[in-house]
Amino acid sequence: MIQLKNIQKYFFKDDPREIHALQDINLTLEDGEFSLMSGPSGCGKTTLLNVIGALDTVDSGSIYFDGEDITKLSEDERTTLRLEKMGFVFQAYNLVPVLTVEENIGFIMRLRGFDKNSIAKRVREVAGILEIENKLSFLPNKLSGGQQQRVAVARAVASKPKIILADEPTANLDSKNSYKLITMMRELNEKEGMTVVFASHDSLVEESVRRIIRLNDGKLVD
Ligand SMILES: Nc1ncnc2c1ncn2[C@@H]1O[C@H](COP(=O)(O)OP(=O)(O)OP(=O)(O)O)[C@@H](O)[C@H]1O
Ligand SMILES: [Mg+2]
Repeated sequence: MIQLKNIQKYFFKDDPREIHALQDINLTLEDGEFSLMSGPSGCGKTTLLNVIGALDTVDSGSIYFDGEDITKLSEDERTTLRLEKMGFVFQAYNLVPVLTVEENIGFIMRLRGFDKNSIAKRVREVAGILEIENKLSFLPNKLSGGQQQRVAVARAVASKPKIILADEPTANLDSKNSYKLITMMRELNEKEGMTVVFASHDSLVEESVRRIIRLNDGKLVD
């Protein structure tokens, strides 16, 4: 479970350009949720996702990750937390171009020191769910955009993080590929119990999630 308590986040604090990007956010994300952060451009979706993912810091407030306040962690501890507990999917697929699909999917597991056999087994398992098992020996540039994004999802979920944070994952995909991606992510959520939180404008995502967290102007509205 992740609990945000009175989160305040500014950009350009004490400067004429100051932006109060997150304004007293109180939010609980339960284990196994499949949720969407929604709201107009600039309302703070990415900022909120980034502070939950320990990619960015807050100005005040606490974020409890299974009871531990992650706003108190050092830079190194946050890096470890991200590696061990979180999975990220972004609009740009961010695959390593010189590694095969198989190596890309296994990348985080390798960093975390899983042994070769368990990596190979798990890579095949997630590649099967995401229907890219016949692409494992290819380099990413030989795949379509939709397939590349499914590789990015496979990489994010392979090491079984507690939470997947997905920022506009369908922004570069057509509706058919978007639908496929969301359906497969929901399947992974149901099968493996991983919490998934999207930030997105996509109505396909909106129709697929179980909970919508609405933001406006840095504030939680619903
Ligand atoms: N690194 C940054 N430096 C300065 N201002 C920032 C930074 N990141 C975001 N902002 C500002 O904070 C506010 C929230 O931005 P954010 O990117 O979280 O919005 P968003 O809801 O994700 O928008 P979009 O739907 O366009 O992706 C905006 O006013 C934005 O300009
Ligand atoms: Mg954004």
